Amino acid sequence: MTRTGLALALLLGSASMAGAQQATDAVAPEAASAAEIATDGFGDLDQPARDGLTAKAEGRPVTSENWMVTAAHPLAVQAGARVLEAGGTAADAMVAVQTVLGLVEPQSSGLGGGSFLIWYDAKSGKTTTLDARETAPMDIKPTLFQDDQGQPLEFMQAVVGGRSVGTPGTPRLLEMAHRKWGKSNWATLFDDAIKLADDGFTVSPRLAGLVAEEGDALKRYPATENYFFPEGQAVTEGSTLKNPAYADTLRAIAAGGADAFYKGPIAEQVTAAVRGATDNPGYLSASDLAAYQVIERPAVCVEYREHDVCGMGPPSSGALTVGQILGMLNNYDLSETGPDSPESWRLIGDASRLAFADRGRFMADSDFVPMPTEGLIDPAYLAERAKLLAGDDSLPEVTAGNPGWTHASLWGDDVAIELPSTTHISIVDAEGNALSMTTTIENGFGSRLMAGGFLLNNELTDFSFATHDDAGYPIANAIAPGKRPRSSMAPTIVLKDDAPVMVIGSPGGSRIIGYVAKAIIAHLDWGMDIQSAVASPNILNRFGKMDVEPGLPAALTEGLTAMGFELNEGEQTSGLQGVVITPEGLIGGVDPRREGVAIGG
Ligand code: GLY
Repeated sequence: MTRTGLALALLLGSASMAGAQQATDAVAPEAASAAEIATDGFGDLDQPARDGLTAKAEGRPVTSENWMVTAAHPLAVQAGARVLEAGGTAADAMVAVQTVLGLVEPQSSGLGGGSFLIWYDAKSGKTTTLDARETAPMDIKPTLFQDDQGQPLEFMQAVVGGRSVGTPGTPRLLEMAHRKWGKSNWATLFDDAIKLADDGFTVSPRLAGLVAEEGDALKRYPATENYFFPEGQAVTEGSTLKNPAYADTLRAIAAGGADAFYKGPIAEQVTAAVRGATDNPGYLSASDLAAYQVIERPAVCVEYREHDVCGMGPPSSGALTVGQILGMLNNYDLSETGPDSPESWRLIGDASRLAFADRGRFMADSDFVPMPTEGLIDPAYLAERAKLLAGDDSLPEVTAGNPGWTHASLWGDDVAIELPSTTHISIVDAEGNALSMTTTIENGFGSRLMAGGFLLNNELTDFSFATHDDAGYPIANAIAPGKRPRSSMAPTIVLKDDAPVMVIGSPGGSRIIGYVAKAIIAHLDWGMDIQSAVASPNILNRFGKMDVEPGLPAALTEGLTAMGFELNEGEQTSGLQGVVITPEGLIGGVDPRREGVAIGG
């Protein structure tokens, strides 16, 4: 067996990992109907939110002339819309959206987590990215996620508690994006989130369902238990939940900037929660928080069907892996075969397998390890890899390629898992700036630790638990002090002739890559409008079985099976949020699998 094949067998054969995957996939309540999600309290923006939910339920996109905002919860989108309506930029609106999401969708993202953002600047015509990934505390050891015998910990044993918590990046990103591209008054961007936290917000069906299914894991730490189980009972759909601690935290950041988070009383609450976590303390310190920095990096762009698909490079594998998939598919005409043909999905599925093989071997935090970043998306390399797809059947075996002879050729394969989680924000403002941001606390409810009214991330479990593979090769994505764990987050802006035409991204752990690639293919190759593109079936391959949603036409599933794919049928809670930019105006699309909405003006 090859090294890659061995790694795959380990991944598929690991009871603990497979168990964790199943457990989290099961936590996926159906998207609620328009009527079930509260949208009241934003005055003239209540009706657009209801209209947007109705459009989503009916499979129609939302259109507008000047600006558009989409995110995973109507209240957060309304807060962003209020900023845009008042003339704020996409960066301003993002601060309002993120701070409300941290309240109403606390399980997915927030001040205790990290994020990646890609920005198209209308004035300069330039695209850039902000890396606000969590960092490993300086006190950790490479064996952080191993037991006394050097064996990897069970996944959830590592997740719950202080050990998995990395230095949060999102608060600093809010400030940096606002300083670079905002023009609204900083403090006012927190108003809606503070009011909702003080007065209470209506618990959505999805949040209530997730709390109920989490049960005991959320009761391990008192601050978390007290919040999600007021008076001993799990919060219920439609009930009002207040979060005065979060309101206080937001007031401090509104007044004092991100420093109020990284130094002083809030920082002390965060480190006390991490270091004092019963049974599983962590290593995050005051100096880790004080030293945290957001890094501006060039966008990683790949050409696809005469467009430039741009996104987040290392430490995310997002843009590189989406880019590899599209770069290989550039050599085949998917518009001819179409969305219902097994042949289209054979090509997409096996291109994805090839890309995930490279991802497992080569992709990590390139500030810490040598990485053939340019080689991975070199069109000549991808054209060579694409030749492997020329047959009629699923590839019998897939291994990492050779994208450049560097020290990286000696890496072992990483089998780290990333479970469905996270959230996505897409915004275009009236000045023509475009923002795509994927933001996370990693697992649903992160480490399950709360401080200052927000949940703390478990992002460090995105590192490989092992330092070497079974053949003794070192793993690029192994943990080290100060390093950022490899991500799959793929906030994306698609450009045509240097102008943005599509803003897209999704939550979903390592499935993000397939969700984003699908939406781009559905729109560019198959001519679907953005709502149809995000809603279209998810069919993915992350270097194993073909993950398919229930209800696909028999001709498609039987065709794929006949080609040699093993199908893994189950719900896939993508949360694609997209905006398409046309000369006639903006078109927003929102994933019907979650509670989000698009509002335009
Ligand atoms: N933790 C999800 C991701 O970074 O891909």
